[in-house]
Amino acid sequence: MRYRGIDHLGIAVADLAAARDVFTRLLGFRVVEEEVVEDQRVRVVKLDAGGSELELLESTDPEGPIGKFVAKRGPGIHHVTVRVDDLRATLRELEAKGIELIDREPREGAGGKKIAFLHPKSTAGILIELCEAPVRSSRPPRAS
Ligand code: CO
Repeated sequence: MRYRGIDHLGIAVADLAAARDVFTRLLGFRVVEEEVVEDQRVRVVKLDAGGSELELLESTDPEGPIGKFVAKRGPGIHHVTVRVDDLRATLRELEAKGIELIDREPREGAGGKKIAFLHPKSTAGILIELCEAPVRSSRPPRAS
């Protein structure tokens, strides 16, 4: 298993417009992309954090995963996403160690990347997402 850096932190917010304003206007982050991920019932603003990203996540549905998270725990860090070289192989390796997987196979996440979530039951209560490197937008520019 080979980890290749933090791809992004997923941050659950209650009010995306207000959070976007704080992170861009006050903190100076640049918006990389904005999208709605239907199957996660979430509206996403991705910010360039320099070699990795912050994903501001607002639920489009109170019964969606982010809606429930914010209702229960308030806004805050929802998940951490780490890059791996071969996502499918990593999932098999973790499964063999007894880690419970939310996604047994890679699926398409925000921005069309291959992603999979591990079950927080198996990971000290922390929601971990793995994604397959390379990732176009959040990589540092290659030295020429
Ligand atoms: Co994510």
